[in-house]
Amino acid sequence: MSQPNPPVPYLPLADGAAIPQLGFGLYKVPAPDTVRLCLEAIDAGYRHLDTAALYGNEREVGEAVRSAPVPRDQLFLVSKVWKDDNGYDATLRAFDASMSRFGLESLDLYLIHWPMPSTDRYVDTWRALVRLQAEGRVGSIGVANFHAHHIERIFAETGVVPVVNQVELHPWLPQAELRAYDAARGIRTEAWSPLARGRILGEPVLERIAAAHGRTPAQIVLRWHLQLGNIVIPKASSPARIRENLQVFDFELRSDDLSAIASLETGERTGRDPDFD
Ligand SMILES: NC(=O)c1ccc[n+]([C@@H]2O[C@H](COP(=O)([O-])OP(=O)(O)OC[C@H]3O[C@@H](n4cnc5c(N)ncnc54)[C@H](OP(=O)(O)O)[C@@H]3O)[C@@H](O)[C@H]2O)c1
Repeated sequence: MSQPNPPVPYLPLADGAAIPQLGFGLYKVPAPDTVRLCLEAIDAGYRHLDTAALYGNEREVGEAVRSAPVPRDQLFLVSKVWKDDNGYDATLRAFDASMSRFGLESLDLYLIHWPMPSTDRYVDTWRALVRLQAEGRVGSIGVANFHAHHIERIFAETGVVPVVNQVELHPWLPQAELRAYDAARGIRTEAWSPLARGRILGEPVLERIAAAHGRTPAQIVLRWHLQLGNIVIPKASSPARIRENLQVFDFELRSDDLSAIASLETGERTGRDPDFD
C-alpha cells in the first residue's frame, strides 16, 4: 500500500474528532465500480470516503470498507440523509437503512444532505442526528448545503452546532462569506464538486499555474482548497486520477497564484441554490 508523501493531514473537528482533509467522493460512481475504486483509493492512501444514500453505492462502499486491508478505525466514512427523508422519524429510519446497506456498526460523520426549506423539516432532521450521536451510532454530525441562516436556525432551536458544512465550492464559487461564517462558528467547511465537476480545469489561468509548478490543473485547484483550509473530496474514475489528486501535499501555491485563482470567481454554481428547494 502506498501513502502520499507527505500523508493526508487530519483536521480537528469541534467535537474532538479529526477528519482527513482530503477524501474520495463517490457521487456518480456506479455501484459495479465502487468496490474496485474504493479499494484503489485506499491503496493510494485515501482514508476518507464520502457517500450518501442518494448515490446508490452504500452497499458497495460498505463491502470495500469491510474488505480493505486497513482497519475500520483508520477509515473515515461519511454518509448523508437524503432530502426526501428529512424529519425526525424518517431520518432515524433512513440512518438504519444506510447502516444495514453498509453492513457496519458505526459511521464517522452523518450529514443532512439538503435543508429543503420548502418542507421545513430540517430542524427535526437535525434533532435525529443529535440523538444518533448521543447514542454513539455516529461519531460526528454535520450539514451539507446549508446557508448561514439555516445553521443559525438549527442552533437556535437545538443548541447544537454542526462540525462540518459541506457545500459547493471551487474557484468559480469560492464562498468567502460562508467560509468566514463557518470559521467563526467553529465549523469546518468542506468543498463538494471541488473541481466544478472537472469543468473548470480548462481555465487558462489554471493551466498557466500548473505549467509553472510542473503540476496538473486539478492538482492546482486541490492545492488551492487545501491552502484555504477546506476539506476536499474529489471524485475520479481512474487509478491514475485517483493518485494524481492525492499528490498535492508536497508543493505550495504562492500569493500571486492565489490572487490569479481568485480572479476566476463568477458565482457560477453547478448545482442548485439550497434556498430554492
Ligand atoms: N453534498 C452534496 O450535495 C454534494 C453534491 C455533489 C457532490 N458531493 C460530493 O463531492 C464529491 C466531489 O464532487 P463531484 O463528484 O460532483 O465533482 P468533482 O470532484 O469536482 O469533479 C469530478 C469530475 O472531475 C473529473 N476529474 C477528477 N480528477 C481529475 C483530474 N485529475 N484530471 C481531470 N479530470 C478529473 C472526474 O472525471 P472522471 O470521473 O472521469 O475521472 C469527474 O468528471 C462527490 O463525489 C460527492 O462525494 C456532494
